[in-house]
Amino acid sequence: MAERDEVLLKVQEKYYPPAHIVERAWVKDYESLYAQSVQDREGFWAKVAEELHWFRKWDKVLDWQFPYAQWFVGAKTNISYNCLDRHVLQGRRNKVAYIWVDEDNNERKITYGELLELVSRIANGLKSLGVKKGDRVSIYMPNSIEAVACMLACARIGAIHSVVFAGFSEGALRLRIEDAKAKVVITASYTKRRGKKIDLLATVNRAIDGLSFVEKVIVWDRDGDALNGESSLFVSFDSLVKGASPHCEPEVMDAEDPLFILYTSGTTGKPKGVLHTTGGYMVGTYYTTKVVFDLHEDDVYWCTADIGWITGHSYIVYGPLANGATSIIVEGAPDYPDPGRWWSYVEKYRVNIFYTAPTAIRMFMRYGEQWPAQYDLSSLRVLGSVGEPINPEAWHWYYKHIGRERCVIVDTWWQTETGAHMITTVPSYPAKPGKAGKPFFTIEAAVVDSSGKELPPNTVGNLVIKSPWPSMLRTCWGEPERYEKYWNTIPGYYLTGDLASYDEEGYIMILGRADDVLNVAGHRIGTMEVESALVDHPAVAEAAVIGKPHEIKGESIKAFVILKKGYEPSEKLVEEIKQHVRNVLGAIAVPDEIEFVEKLPKTRSGKIMRRVLKAQELGLPVGDISTLED
Ligand code: WT7
Repeated sequence: MAERDEVLLKVQEKYYPPAHIVERAWVKDYESLYAQSVQDREGFWAKVAEELHWFRKWDKVLDWQFPYAQWFVGAKTNISYNCLDRHVLQGRRNKVAYIWVDEDNNERKITYGELLELVSRIANGLKSLGVKKGDRVSIYMPNSIEAVACMLACARIGAIHSVVFAGFSEGALRLRIEDAKAKVVITASYTKRRGKKIDLLATVNRAIDGLSFVEKVIVWDRDGDALNGESSLFVSFDSLVKGASPHCEPEVMDAEDPLFILYTSGTTGKPKGVLHTTGGYMVGTYYTTKVVFDLHEDDVYWCTADIGWITGHSYIVYGPLANGATSIIVEGAPDYPDPGRWWSYVEKYRVNIFYTAPTAIRMFMRYGEQWPAQYDLSSLRVLGSVGEPINPEAWHWYYKHIGRERCVIVDTWWQTETGAHMITTVPSYPAKPGKAGKPFFTIEAAVVDSSGKELPPNTVGNLVIKSPWPSMLRTCWGEPERYEKYWNTIPGYYLTGDLASYDEEGYIMILGRADDVLNVAGHRIGTMEVESALVDHPAVAEAAVIGKPHEIKGESIKAFVILKKGYEPSEKLVEEIKQHVRNVLGAIAVPDEIEFVEKLPKTRSGKIMRRVLKAQELGLPVGDISTLED
């Protein structure tokens, strides 16, 4: 760290926003609004909800039957109507909704009017294939306007979308299609990353083998050459769209009707299908996008995530569209063809709000500040961070070399389950590097011990949320007991799974996961999932996986593997096993290191003690090992 930065860190640990940001901010006085919001949670959200369109207003804002919440009870709406029709009717027909760019700098812009038409056509196409309200549709597509339009088309007709990140492989995809019992899968012929074509259709083909409930696969055939000779299971996206009417009445949805399922990793078992519903999710993503990013009518907004993650759902698709924003959506790698790619887009499109992950910032730090320095980044006003704690060094680099000391940084803590931002500062409020900040309006966060007792400042404990919020998950698909566990482990509170502490001023610092969930480059991966993929290889008898600190990725995966009789450790086998994990789960889950061992530390009841492996690996004290087998 540069000497100057170090001094800054010590003397000025609080960063005050520049006056021009405070002046135009939607929220100018965080503290008084927060105090008001916790006094009257329901009144607060009702007022926000008034800014959106409802076919019928609610009878009651919240019905809380612990641990099940219903928000905007009795209200009727449609999120695609709010994201599209509302804007077209309010004079934004010709406003650009998305600017899409790929690695070859092919560009496509779509206006709100055009997007409404595309979504309506896809919606009608889905209907013509027999998709109805409540049916599940899996979407396995590149970051693209087409993918966003497919999500909105599902929402328009009340089908539940389940987007699967296109970086996942066959096994992960199959599990998600199977669990949701998707009637239709939508995919593309390929995506491109680092100049290489990745055949998504081939992966879908293998993933759905034998899944008879899948009735159709819609294929966005990008070069028009992928569907030759395929069976009648496959339908071309283009012909479906062309043959459909550009008008589609939005389905009148109950506020509590399901909107989507998104799978995320837990401590044990298969990934859980986090279910979000319509009204509360819409209100939560709309309002956080507006005030946390301080989004205004003429802004250009860019969230660098992929639609396959919750960040993409909430902050590429629903939040920005509910606000009528102009967004950038990018396909491909951040540093390809060169590490100037992202900054060239900030310059070219005059991006005002930029939202990315610490892992990306650390990667760019490595490449060096000479890359962003080549571009005019003066349009930037608000910089966001999400996915893992941002270390102060990365925070300062982001502030200086991207924000040029003129921008504010919002470090937004939230989860797939929370649907929207939960802990952050708003742009008008001072930020502290390395600390996510304060609870968002109406959110009551606390740091507690395992019995639920609140801990004093500067003590590490479990981060919990004390009461329901509009965009919270409603259940886990088909597994209500897993949902209930969030609220019953520390009875009465929503358990986030993160460790945290707060300082005397109430700023919350997130320290990472408390459980066996890894965070690799901002992606949540369950140790169990990787271990299952490992033991699925013919040579592997047993496996245990831990996370290790990694300079860029935050955490990297190390696997300890016991081989079956007749197999010998070798470099070749290491590569083979890695490739196997890549095939089953995808590149993000591949261990950086594989160590062959004879034995794994286990409890007497046979549970692998990953904590012991981790302590040994990092040279730390192993702690209590009284339950260790021997
Ligand atoms: C986990 C949730 C929410 C979108 C991306 C990830 C970690 C997320 C932060 C942050 C520290 C963060 C937590 C959380 N996390 N944002 N600003 N500071 N940690 O969503 O895959 O559901 O993962 O990501 O550990 O529990 P997700």
